[in-house]
Amino acid sequence: MLEFPKGFWWGSSTSSYQVEGDNFYSDWWHYEKKHGLEPSGKCCRHYDLYKEDFDLAKSLNHNAHRFSIEWARVEPREGFLDFNQIEHYRDVVISLRERNLEPLVTLNHFTLPLWFAQKGGWLNKEAIDYFLRYVEKIVQELASSVRFWITINEPMVYIYQGYFKGIWPPQKRSLFRAIQVYKRLVLAHTRAYRLIHRIYKEKNLNSPLISIAKHLRGFFCWSKNPYHKFISNFKDYLFNFMILDDLIKNKSLDFIGVNYYTSEFIALNSEQLKDIPKSNLGWFIYPEGLYSLLLKLKRYNLDIFILENGISTDDDNQRWNFIEAHLKQIYKAIQNKAKIIGYLYWSLLDNFEWEKGFCPHFGLIDVDYRTFSRTIRRSAKNFSQVCKEYKL
Ligand code: FCB
Repeated sequence: MLEFPKGFWWGSSTSSYQVEGDNFYSDWWHYEKKHGLEPSGKCCRHYDLYKEDFDLAKSLNHNAHRFSIEWARVEPREGFLDFNQIEHYRDVVISLRERNLEPLVTLNHFTLPLWFAQKGGWLNKEAIDYFLRYVEKIVQELASSVRFWITINEPMVYIYQGYFKGIWPPQKRSLFRAIQVYKRLVLAHTRAYRLIHRIYKEKNLNSPLISIAKHLRGFFCWSKNPYHKFISNFKDYLFNFMILDDLIKNKSLDFIGVNYYTSEFIALNSEQLKDIPKSNLGWFIYPEGLYSLLLKLKRYNLDIFILENGISTDDDNQRWNFIEAHLKQIYKAIQNKAKIIGYLYWSLLDNFEWEKGFCPHFGLIDVDYRTFSRTIRRSAKNFSQVCKEYKL
């Protein structure tokens, strides 16, 4: 029996665009149309059904929940802040608190207001000021009920997909621009970090806890070939640690938010790779990768919060095995003095998985996209036992 620390946070994560529905003013909405992708449409209708969804999370013994605010709803036109939408998100936070679910609020989870994207998005010289104006408004309004803030979700994934591979909006392929956006996002986070702390001080509130959600990917290389070793270490630094080092240098992390799904194996051939299990998206399942990354994070001497970990599968047993195996590695890392304070599964609901549409099923809860009815999966019930007893 593995026993997790008292006060551990348990729950799940979502992001606004992936569950709410009808996000007309976001860049992704237009991107879907332009490329004839499966439309996000009404999505899970979480915008209307959030209270019911939070009832389910509570019934599953969660004590924390991560969601994001859709900037494009709050500011559908440049400079126009929609008070009704801010009220909506206030009610989201209050509804979580009423159910004893600790809210973790993400300020930017990939999508941007269309007007901002049309002005060049993060490449615009004033991008950070636009972002801070939105952040300031939200934080002024919600500070008294929120402790955990995530400024930006997975900056490196965003840059890779949007500015390097060119798959996601704004579909650029340019190392030069990717580097520019990298610098902007580091600065945007750092300035948002200072702004949020300042607001809490002015309001005489206890210090908030602020981080990014850092997507970490394991890079493993068992080959003795120095070139392979170099590639592996280089990828590990570039993708995983460079931005964390920069944010630490700027003294702008209160804890480390971690998203972990998979690992990459350098120099293994397809024959050797075939023994490593995969999700139905072809992502390798490698819980040991999480363990090794968590130990590397010890060097920052900060609390670590797992903000996303999950699997797309149509075999719910596989989902539970995935959760169990990752929790075991987390437990082991805690025994080895990694200061892990919580675990959120991705995701509470099946949802819109970006360019892949609705096919991937990551949810603890199945969503019928015709009727919007929800069905709790077996894996969710198993996980709820852990959340209840803090034991595995
Ligand atoms: C993460 C994203 C999240 C979701 C999961 C599957 O990289 O943060 O929005 O798409 O992957």
